Amino acid sequence: MSRLRVAVVGVGHLGQHHARIASDSDGAELVAVVDPSQERGTEIAQKFHTRWAPAVGDILSEVDAVQVAAPTGLHHAIGLEVLKAGKHLLMEKPLAATLLEGEALLAALALARKMNPGLVACVGHLERFNPAVAALRAAGFRPKFIETVRVSPFPMRSLEVDVVMDVMIHDLDLLMALVQRPVVDVEAVGVPVLTKVPDLVNARLKFEGGAFATVTASRVARKKERTLRAFGHQEYASLDFAAQKLEILRLKMGEHGPEVIPEIVDIEEGEPLKLEIEAFHQACIGQGQDYVSWAEGLEAMRVADLVQKAVAESLVAMGEG
Ligand SMILES: NC(=O)c1ccc[n+]([C@@H]2O[C@H](COP(=O)([O-])OP(=O)(O)OC[C@H]3O[C@@H](n4cnc5c(N)ncnc54)[C@H](O)[C@@H]3O)[C@@H](O)[C@H]2O)c1
Repeated sequence: MSRLRVAVVGVGHLGQHHARIASDSDGAELVAVVDPSQERGTEIAQKFHTRWAPAVGDILSEVDAVQVAAPTGLHHAIGLEVLKAGKHLLMEKPLAATLLEGEALLAALALARKMNPGLVACVGHLERFNPAVAALRAAGFRPKFIETVRVSPFPMRSLEVDVVMDVMIHDLDLLMALVQRPVVDVEAVGVPVLTKVPDLVNARLKFEGGAFATVTASRVARKKERTLRAFGHQEYASLDFAAQKLEILRLKMGEHGPEVIPEIVDIEEGEPLKLEIEAFHQACIGQGQDYVSWAEGLEAMRVADLVQKAVAESLVAMGEG
């Protein structure tokens, strides 16, 4: 069978890894990388034995699928162009820079699917492919309270969006997937520190059915930390995204009465981005549907929008808005 013809659009910090993984794939052929920077585009093209093109329109007729890792502010325009050409599309997270643009992408996808019902459109919420997250979901954990922390030193990239759309969106998507109930209430505080938009945000979410989550995201920390703790009935879990470690502690009856028994869950390590891209390629050839859909990506954006609004209100209340 012929290989899936793929292009990567935007080969900066993350896009270079998209190109590496696509070029290594047995089932796909990296036909081109696209970047307006000739220097960057040719550097990555040479490294991964493909060709460079300056604009997405230059390569659409030669590919079956496109992986977009261009700046978030361009997702909407590039997405519309790719959909118009009827190509499968993996869009990096967040789906778009604003809710309005995300909704426009969903509307364009619905139209494109009228012509091509098998069109695959997914969002790069790669933590869903983190083996530790997969293990937590497989453990059938039913959390009542979840606490996430995702902080890092200042990145000097993706600064056109705030820390909610850039970083917290990962955890908002995961929370929706873990709790599987709609968010009914959001409170949040946050502050701009090094940019004009919030760089540090703490949000408290209430889900239908009574589960709660506190979510902290910062790009002004000293060190990286990406963790999740989940608490259910007589069980709790501690997950480290970077180390791909999961520990589950359960209250059980021991020899001398109730005991809290820790269990380190056996996890086969894997690169989440690679697992995500492979699943996308598989879906494009009609093998499976293991991906985060645009509808789910938009749902995470809706919650992110509520967090942003709550932060804006808190800034006004502090006299900073
Ligand atoms: N899934 C994740 O964990 C994760 C991690 C980092 C970044 N991202 C997402 O990936 C995207 C890119 O982030 P980054 O950190 O790699 O940014 P970056 O600034 O390092 O790279 C962006 C690249 O896109 C290129 N570009 C600009 N305009 C373009 C256009 N019109 N067409 C094609 N390419 C264009 C730039 O020249 C640059 O090389 C963002 O949406 C970001 O949110 C996701």
